[in-house]
Parts: sequence; C-alpha cells; structure tokens
Amino acid sequence: MNQATPSSRLTGFHKQSVADRIGQVSDFAGLNAEERALLANTGNLPQDLANHLIDSMIGNINIPVGVATNMRIDGRDVLVPMATEESSVVAAVCNAGRQCYDNGGFITSMSGTRMIAQIQLVDIADPEHARIRILERVDEIRAICDECDPILIKLGGGFRDLEVRVIDSRSGPMVITHIIVDTRDAMGANAVNTMAEKLAPSIAAWTGGRTYLRILSNLADRRLARVRCVWPVEAIGGAEVRDGMMLAYHFAEADPYRAATHNKGIMNGISAVVMATGNDTRAVEAGAHAYAARNGRYTSLTKWEVTAEGHLAGVLELPMAVGLVGGATKVHPMARLALKMLGVTSAEQLAGIITAVGLAQNFAALRVLATTGVQKGHMALHAHNIAMMAGAVGGEVDALAKVLVAGGKVRIDVAEAELKKLRAAA
Ligand code: MEV
Repeated sequence: MNQATPSSRLTGFHKQSVADRIGQVSDFAGLNAEERALLANTGNLPQDLANHLIDSMIGNINIPVGVATNMRIDGRDVLVPMATEESSVVAAVCNAGRQCYDNGGFITSMSGTRMIAQIQLVDIADPEHARIRILERVDEIRAICDECDPILIKLGGGFRDLEVRVIDSRSGPMVITHIIVDTRDAMGANAVNTMAEKLAPSIAAWTGGRTYLRILSNLADRRLARVRCVWPVEAIGGAEVRDGMMLAYHFAEADPYRAATHNKGIMNGISAVVMATGNDTRAVEAGAHAYAARNGRYTSLTKWEVTAEGHLAGVLELPMAVGLVGGATKVHPMARLALKMLGVTSAEQLAGIITAVGLAQNFAALRVLATTGVQKGHMALHAHNIAMMAGAVGGEVDALAKVLVAGGKVRIDVAEAELKKLRAAA
C-alpha cells in the first residue's frame, strides 16, 4: 500500500509555539529525537529572540565567527569578526593586513549615509510634465517625509534631496520619484519605505497618475564606502608577483566571467563582516553587484595600480548600506558583541571597516591566484572538513588532515581508509 504523502499545508503554522512547529516539522520529515533536540538547541541566539526575528522559526544554524587580525584602518588597530562557513577567508584577510600594516594599513571614507526610495507612477499621458510637477513640490515632499520619523530628524537625519526620472518600459513610460534620505546610523530600509508609502498618494494626486511600488533601492549609490591601501612591492614578494596580480586584475576588468569570481572573493570578506554585525548581507550584495554593472557592463569592483615607486595600490568603492541600530544589529547578542569588538560608534566607521576587509580579501585572492593557486592552502583546511566527515574526532582531525594533504588526495574514501589505519596504529 502507498503511504500518504505528508502535506505541506500546515494551516496556522506561523502562529504556533516553536515547540509545536518543531513537532510538526519532525513528523513531516521523520526527524528522530536527536534531530529534534538539534532544532531546539538555538546556541547563542535565544529561541525567544530568534522567534521574534523571523517568521515560522524552528531553529538556528550556527556559522563560525573568526577574527581577522593585523588590520589597521584609519590609523586604528581593529580586530574584525567575520562570520563565514568558508575556509581560508579569514586567513586571507589576516595575510593581506599583515603585508600592508607597516605601510599604514587602510584609509577609508564615505560619500554619506543617504538611502534612496523609489515611487513608481504609471498611467501618465504627459510624463515630462508630471516629472516637473513633482519636482516643484519639493518642500511639501520634505515635510511629508520628515514628519514620518521625528527621531531620525533629532539625530540629524531626514529628507535631503529629490530626483524624478522618466523611464521607458514595456508598459509605457513611468515616472520614478527618488526620495533621498539621510538615515544616519540606521541602514534605513524601514525609514525610507515608510516615507515612500506615505508620500505616494500625494504624488498620485498631484499628477493624476497611479502609484504602485514604493520601496528602497539597494543600489545605494548615495552611500558609497571607499577604501584605499598601498602594499609595498617588497612586502608582497617582489615585482613579478605584483605584475601577476595586475594581470589578474586586468582579466577581471575585461571579462564578466572572471569579474563575477573576483567580486565573489571581495564579497567573501564583506558579507562575513556584514553577517557578523547582524546587517543585511543581501542588501549589500545586491548593491555591490548592481554597482559593478553601473556602466552597462559588469566589471571588477576594485581597481589596482602600480605607483611611481613600484608599489601596488588598491581601491574599492561600493554601496554600503549598513547600520548600528535596528534589526538584528541591536537584538542579536553576537551582533552586539561584534560591534563592541570593532569599537565603532557610527555606521560610517563600520562601512569603512567592511570595505577594507573587502579590499584585503581581493588583494589576498589576486596574490594567491597569481602565485601558488588557491588549492594548496584551501586543501589543507578542506582536509579538516573531510577528516571530520570521515568520523575523525579530537586530535584525530589534525592528524588525519595532515595525512590527507601529504598524500595529495583529500577525498572522503581515502580519509575513511586512513582513519582506520590511524586508529589501528594508536
Ligand atoms: C573563492 O571563494 C574566492 C576566489 O575565487 C576569489 C577570486 O577568484 O578572486 C578565490
């Protein structure tokens, strides 16, 4: 007899207690007692907090937090927490930091802390007139926006600018209003979305059109973080290494296939700090990739040059919508700890540090790619994962990893066989 397929129609699931949800999911998926206990173990994020952060929560997944050492940013030494599941990512930043530390490290700056929200207006016969009619209302728009968030105004933020664009689309012309708002130490999504929703009916009334979407843009190009750093040619292993790194950079600059990987490496660093500080990784990632394609062709986010003295100079500039207040940054105990560890007092400082880690990551990736290749270092760390997958515990993990690397075969079948041998010999 066929067993009935369990149904995913769990009505009211989100309203149940976490324990009840775990029960239902366990029944559905046939989870055993140990697996149920794993779900109930929420680690360093208490279940009650986790349950308020997202909907339908049933458990947490712990991601390791490492610390990038050797980082000197804007004349200050910082230890940078990085949440990542990928091996070698933290070590890469430490190496890059060490190689520029004596030369002063990283210098950062920001274009500001302004976010953009968009209001989409359609069904307009005369979009160019509508655009001007909206621009004429800037004072009313400022008042409507600022009224939404008195606390933000008190903190020195609020409406700053208005932009109205007419775009062509497959549904005809659309009039897109951008409100530009200084959200200070908040990432600002809530603040600007509230303003956009409040303002939309007025825009419809002033123009006779209909408003639809009212939402922030993740292409936060009024909130650019910038970092620059010079690596002395002797610190990086000489002119040949430097020139190899320049070739690697020019490859990324010229080819979107390579640029995607190059930028992925940058985001290895950036997302890890964004995540550790409880910020929105997807917002930063979307902004970064959109910015990388802003001139119509996807390209490298970093730029590299050789200075007159022959040193390697790198810069990175990208949208960096991160905050110190709101969401998980304030609620998640590990995020709060991470911010304390960084000793930052403003979102701008945090954005600078994150961007410095991105540049460091790219430096390290280019250097390793232009010299030994990634697999040597990667395999050494990967061997530890394989050793654990094969069942190694405690001191066995290191011992087995060493055997795997020495044999040049970092594979699960080899690990299982070698673990048997190690145990027999013990
Ligand atoms: C791996 O996660 C990141 C790299 O592929 C980045 C790059 O190729 O520049 C090493």
